[in-house]
Amino acid sequence: MELTMEADPFRIFLDMQLNLPRNGPGSDRTTASVYRTLEDLPAEPEILVMGCGQGNDALTLLRETKARVTAVDIMKPFIKNLEEKAEAAGVSGERLLTVCSDFEALDLPHAVFDLIWSEGAIYTVGFEAGLKDWSKYLKPEGLLVASEASWLTDEPSETARSFWSNAYPDMGAVDENKVRAERVGFEVVQTLTLPQEDWWTDYYQPLVPQIEKARNAFAGDVGVQAMLNEQEEEIRLFEAHGDEYGYVFYVLKKSA
Ligand SMILES: C[S@@+](CC[C@H](N)C(=O)[O-])C[C@H]1O[C@@H](n2cnc3c(N)ncnc32)[C@H](O)[C@@H]1O
Repeated sequence: MELTMEADPFRIFLDMQLNLPRNGPGSDRTTASVYRTLEDLPAEPEILVMGCGQGNDALTLLRETKARVTAVDIMKPFIKNLEEKAEAAGVSGERLLTVCSDFEALDLPHAVFDLIWSEGAIYTVGFEAGLKDWSKYLKPEGLLVASEASWLTDEPSETARSFWSNAYPDMGAVDENKVRAERVGFEVVQTLTLPQEDWWTDYYQPLVPQIEKARNAFAGDVGVQAMLNEQEEEIRLFEAHGDEYGYVFYVLKKSA
């Protein structure tokens, strides 16, 4: 009898993600342009970046500002990549503190940050629950900027609705997320929708060859092929229905 070892689909997913420029929709240009809209920040703000991944958001904020950045992510290999990139860009040292931790086990002082920044990561704890929990790290009247997958229409197609009711059942419409933010003590300063090209250039386009490579390397591995199918389905859905949902930056101010 021939025994074949099945690979761990999550491990393969992680390897693919490590080969991408970023780990979710976004771009350095959008990070910088949203940051520039912020008002009332000190000249050298204390910034907490939640779910930094390989750190494009954290690195852009370090380049754009004189801030000190604390960057949190649960995945050690992502944090390691961020540290290497920061070193190469000359923005490490005292201006960057990396913390490898689950959000829920974070041991950081309360009420010391002027700004919390999070791109594509708050969904892992839920938008409202994340805002409520993270708000304790903010100074009174501090700002929180989070990008979150959101419905852009009240009447999504059955195809998009069905996909997201499995993948992220709690995905809210923009107005719904505004209410959620207000419910946990934030004022909504503004919302900005990520341009569609920010889904493609640094995320979906480089993901396609990674999927192809893994398809060939793990041909016949049912678990890995199913994971790859899900990735492809998400890309095809965005191609056909990307005007019905998007990533929205919520710029929030902690109510006094
Ligand atoms: C979609 S990626 C976004 C990464 C990065 N902000 C970007 O835009 O490229 C989400 C990130 O959240 C991190 N993450 C997920 N759950 C987490 C948790 N419970 N605690 C800390 N980090 C978490 C993941 O490891 C991943 O790096």
